Amino acid sequence: MTIDAPAAPAITLDQRGRAELQFLSGLRASLAPLRSAIRTRLEQSGALDDPFDDIESLRERTDAALSDSADLRLLGATLRWSRDRATPRAVAAFERSRDSLEPLALAGAEIDDIVAGDAPRYWSYEFHGTAGGWDGHEHMGFIHHELVYRHIIMAAYGGDIYAVRGKVAAAAPRETYRRILDLGAGTGQYTMKLAETYPDAEIIALDISRSALGYALRRGLDAGHTWRGVRAPAEATGLPAASVDLVTSFIMLHEVPPHVTRGVLDEAFRVLAPGGDIHFSDVTPYRERSTYQAWADDWDAENGSEPWWRTAASMNLSDLARAAGFTDIVERGLGDGNYPWVLTARKPEDIPEASS
Ligand SMILES: C[S@@+](CC[C@H](N)C(=O)[O-])C[C@H]1O[C@@H](n2cnc3c(N)ncnc32)[C@H](O)[C@@H]1O
Repeated sequence: MTIDAPAAPAITLDQRGRAELQFLSGLRASLAPLRSAIRTRLEQSGALDDPFDDIESLRERTDAALSDSADLRLLGATLRWSRDRATPRAVAAFERSRDSLEPLALAGAEIDDIVAGDAPRYWSYEFHGTAGGWDGHEHMGFIHHELVYRHIIMAAYGGDIYAVRGKVAAAAPRETYRRILDLGAGTGQYTMKLAETYPDAEIIALDISRSALGYALRRGLDAGHTWRGVRAPAEATGLPAASVDLVTSFIMLHEVPPHVTRGVLDEAFRVLAPGGDIHFSDVTPYRERSTYQAWADDWDAENGSEPWWRTAASMNLSDLARAAGFTDIVERGLGDGNYPWVLTARKPEDIPEASS
């Protein structure tokens, strides 16, 4: 099968690979009626009627209402099973067609490797069931982006799942950024939108994953962009102080524990020039969701290998930004259901030398 989506490489898989990825995609697509039935059951039970103080008390109510729901059990088991299968099947499909796929997957440029020693332990968790973690295969960036996301997830849900990143990029406070740092750039989905939105800016794509960064640089180059790729933790970038005017990220913060979130804000403050901005988009706080949506986010995170989602959706990011020294702090939703959610803030122009 040849996929000719815009800006995507033409990928040819063998018959077994096509069949296995199509099966997993079809299985995901077939779950929509189960979700509707569960929602109806929750609404009829009254468990969603009252506002909630915290996610634990909401879950007590909803879990009691769904305790004998066969639909919920089937949904959870199918999601977990299909996630566990997705990366191994995609890796196997890649290996059987390595000769034709590897040239498409090779890194686009040299990466500046600033990681000292091993990557942080929290990062090696198998997020989303990605077997072996973000670098579980030398070409995991390509495999994840092109086979898991394009062939399974996008094929199941349709539409452009990356478009929302353009909306986030355009919502940063200014149009005049010259030096942008994209934290947790992954395979460059958000980086690409930043490059389109701020065509005159120099962009640094930063991630701990070598395979994701390599494929990001490849995708950037194929689209005519020259990004610098830096392999380092967002909380210790190794970049010079006051060297960029926008630090931004899309869906990285919910993949780190809270002490690292604090570290990322401190590091952003350090690398920003005075007057520079942060613009982070991540999970919508539960307090800003409808009762049903808060339940659905939390249940999906629990069943989707997202160890830090609940913490991220329950914390007050504005407080952490204030503690790091930022001012002009604004948190807001950009679309329906307050998704995507962004936090924007500024490093003051006049700050004591010691904290710059
Ligand atoms: C869900 S992906 C998001 C990728 C991309 N920003 C996008 O638009 O989809 C999260 C990325 O954050 C990276 N990451 C997680 N923790 C990190 C950290 N402390 N420092 C740098 N990158 C990190 C992961 O390696 C992964 O590539």
